[in-house]
Amino acid sequence: MAEYVDAFATAYDRFWAPYPERMGDAWLRLHAQVAPGAERSLLDVGCGTGIVAARFAAAGYRIVGVDISEAMIARARERLAGTDAVLIAADATDFEVPRPCAFALSTYDILNHVGEIDRVRAYLRRVHAAVAPGGWFGFDMSTIRGLRADVPPVTRQDGTASVVAARGPLDGDRRPLHITGELRTDDGRATPFATTITNTAHPVADVLRALTEAGWVPSHVAAIDDLLTPVPDPEALPRVAVVARRD
Ligand SMILES: C[S@@+](CC[C@H](N)C(=O)[O-])C[C@H]1O[C@@H](n2cnc3c(N)ncnc32)[C@H](O)[C@@H]1O
Repeated sequence: MAEYVDAFATAYDRFWAPYPERMGDAWLRLHAQVAPGAERSLLDVGCGTGIVAARFAAAGYRIVGVDISEAMIARARERLAGTDAVLIAADATDFEVPRPCAFALSTYDILNHVGEIDRVRAYLRRVHAAVAPGGWFGFDMSTIRGLRADVPPVTRQDGTASVVAARGPLDGDRRPLHITGELRTDDGRATPFATTITNTAHPVADVLRALTEAGWVPSHVAAIDDLLTPVPDPEALPRVAVVARRD
């Protein structure tokens, strides 16, 4: 898939890391709380450059990572070098893992990236098949409110890279994010890049129904800054976290 292209993988690490760093630690605590004593194994679906997985690896987890972008997986491979992580370039709706994991995780709107609801169903079934009985699954997702919000373009720049990310017009419940930027190498050459990432929003109730149909037992929907506490009205938040377990 051409969305997370090479140069953007570098820019992602440079400018988008704070959220996965923060959420990696929060999900680590969540897993320890809901499944104390569980085997330390993580399936990170849509693992990107491995920012979250690296935090789990540092806590003693064995990692399986899946991502559709070869460029992102290549960076994850570098980040997780020296561990026994297995990194697989594949679509979240269609992948095989070498061993079932105790905890599956998808951070930063993987469900929205996966697209329309039939693909979301396939993704939830695939993850279910890759998690051991008694295991858990956590993911975040942008809500319809979050996707519809008109946020100003984000611009980021440091000595060697610059990037602008701007939302395009809403198309039903799909929304493009246009990203343009430039990486500069030591010899002063600039490599421009441009990509568009399309996210699709689904009602939280539809996602919970699809989760149940895929065999999961939904536990709760939480705010992303407090993963353990159920929120009464998830649609009021721009992004929520969903926690489910496998019988
Ligand atoms: C915003 S990044 C998040 C990466 C990582 N989870 C993190 O928190 O840093 C979204 C990732 O989803 C991946 N992705 C998008 N569509 C996918 C799909 N259908 N299957 C697997 N990965 C996908 C992209 O390649 C990208 O690495």
